[in-house]
Amino acid sequence: MKIAIFGFGTVGSGVFDVINMNSDIIAKRAGKPIEVKYVLDLRDFPGNPVEKVLVHDVNVILDDPEVKIIAEVMGGINPALDFTKRALMLGKSVCTSNKELVAAHGAELIQIAKEHNCDYYFEASVGGGIPIIRSLCDCLVGDDIIEIKGIVNGTTNYILTRMGEDGLAFDVALKEAQDNGYAERNPAADIEGTDAQRKAAILASLAAGAQVDCADIPTEGICDITAEDIACAKSLGAKIKLLCNIRRDDEKVSAMVAPFLVFENCQLYHVNNVFNGILVTGNATGDVLFYGKGAGKLPTAGAVAGDIIEAAKYYGIPSDIIWSTEKAHMAAQGSRLGRYYVRLDEKDAMEARKVLGVTAEGSSSKAGEVAFLTETMNEKDFNDKIKAFNVLSKIRVYD
Ligand code: HSE
Repeated sequence: MKIAIFGFGTVGSGVFDVINMNSDIIAKRAGKPIEVKYVLDLRDFPGNPVEKVLVHDVNVILDDPEVKIIAEVMGGINPALDFTKRALMLGKSVCTSNKELVAAHGAELIQIAKEHNCDYYFEASVGGGIPIIRSLCDCLVGDDIIEIKGIVNGTTNYILTRMGEDGLAFDVALKEAQDNGYAERNPAADIEGTDAQRKAAILASLAAGAQVDCADIPTEGICDITAEDIACAKSLGAKIKLLCNIRRDDEKVSAMVAPFLVFENCQLYHVNNVFNGILVTGNATGDVLFYGKGAGKLPTAGAVAGDIIEAAKYYGIPSDIIWSTEKAHMAAQGSRLGRYYVRLDEKDAMEARKVLGVTAEGSSSKAGEVAFLTETMNEKDFNDKIKAFNVLSKIRVYD
């Protein structure tokens, strides 16, 4: 079976390597040898073995009836959307790590694939090497998914871990994540939470079987988290983690992405560095925890390779992923109940403690500042109450 790879960046070169490195076991598992006939990229790679199969024109691949499966690992919406649609319409299955495209157009592309008797697979779009998508679509399909919470961005988890455990400055930790191939081309998508938001949209859509748009997911990144907040959280026995939280109540979906204080009794406290952890709660199975490398060349490429084998094995027998283009019913925002971590000016401390309540005292190393955990309240009440004070930092608590 001949395949092509769109994009020879971090993930694309990983897919090329995995297909070649594991060719024997892949042939056994797919029931036929799998060969990379083309790699599409605008750039040249002199001296790299990819040169032999490198093309610059997508039509060479689309016009070749021998190519049955494409790994789209170029990222971004354009031209990936156009290339993917054209491939699917020609009956070529597409396997992707492109979360931006899947979040925005997944339902439509699955539909096109069904109509043309091929597959659109996207295991690598969430959680890197963690098999979360197929688990939701196949293994847990008998459950009503009630909640999904998780760490779904490796770069920010790496940054928060390196800042918290090794005292690195934010920029230095980010640079390390980039050097390791974890970060997006524009790392703003990682640190502002957009990447996690896209993954949350994919997970929420699969849980609901209907479209959850990124625009419906309130998102905060980690740009405002300081070393002082991480130290205060530690004094409270907690770590700061960027979490996505998806809930389904009465057929309505709510989803958010934000930093949270997480305590040791939660499995996600122990998910560090580039690892991701996703806790799925089904109404029959209960809690299932997924853990693995959420970013990086080979873990992500491994997930794409798994999809390629699945597509090859069942070529001509398309799978049925339930994700309708209809919009999911979204719950009203701001109703979440929880505690908050606040760091604020000492002069406000007495009054703030009275108004917000105190459930735990932290210790700030900065003179003139205090940090504590509030009582439980809803988001709107909290935001109204803190207007009277000079709050330097506020982070939700995951209880
Ligand atoms: N930049 C992403 C991350 C890559 O750090 O999780 C994997 O999707």
